[in-house]
Amino acid sequence: MPNWKWIALAAALPIAALAQGVVKPTSKLASGTVNIYDEMHHHVVPQAQVIWDITNAAMDDDGNPSAKKMKPADWLKLKEGTAGLSASLYRIARAGKFIVRTSEQKLLDEDAPTGAKAVNVERNVDGNPDGLRQYAKTLARYVMRMSVAADNHDIKTIYTSASELDGQCEGCHQAYWFANGKR
Ligand code: HEC
Repeated sequence: MPNWKWIALAAALPIAALAQGVVKPTSKLASGTVNIYDEMHHHVVPQAQVIWDITNAAMDDDGNPSAKKMKPADWLKLKEGTAGLSASLYRIARAGKFIVRTSEQKLLDEDAPTGAKAVNVERNVDGNPDGLRQYAKTLARYVMRMSVAADNHDIKTIYTSASELDGQCEGCHQAYWFANGKR
């Protein structure tokens, strides 16, 4: 499974949120403005994690995905996960403006010497906001296909798509987060 990196990150998120004290509301933002950090931190990562948790638990003793392992509630949770994930991606896709984070927030590894700095991510986003929207739209469509597979209880498609999901996140990260040789 290629998802361990994100599982580790997601596990670290509640601690990071605690360390920050409070979760800042996004309502102060001008309408049409999306805070990318909020979307990643509070929506994209936790919802992707729901999908990965369920698909990982659906393996049979031979290591193959099995619909028999899926309870009715699991299909619903999976559906909710894809709905939450695609909703967040569509918010990014149709955003009028972006902020990368607020001054109270810290990007993952931002303080590490090799970590990407907000100012660099901002430059990348401001330089090509349409490219960011396009990445979000493409991934949203991918997630919508997972949603259809969940409706059809098509465990094979779900499992394959979930396994490849983190690879689908990478393109946008490479272009906007890790660009400038910062990682
Ligand atoms: C449309 C572009 C885009 C897509 C698609 C995308 N991301 Fe991100 N992500 C970003 C950017 C830009 C950052 C860094 C800036 C920020 O956090 O504001 C980021 C940051 C993150 C972070 C760090 C959050 C933190 O706490 O600092 C995680 C974790 C993450 N993304 C996970 C994912 C996962 C998992 C997916 C796929 C399911 C995904 N991202 C898809 C653009 C994207």
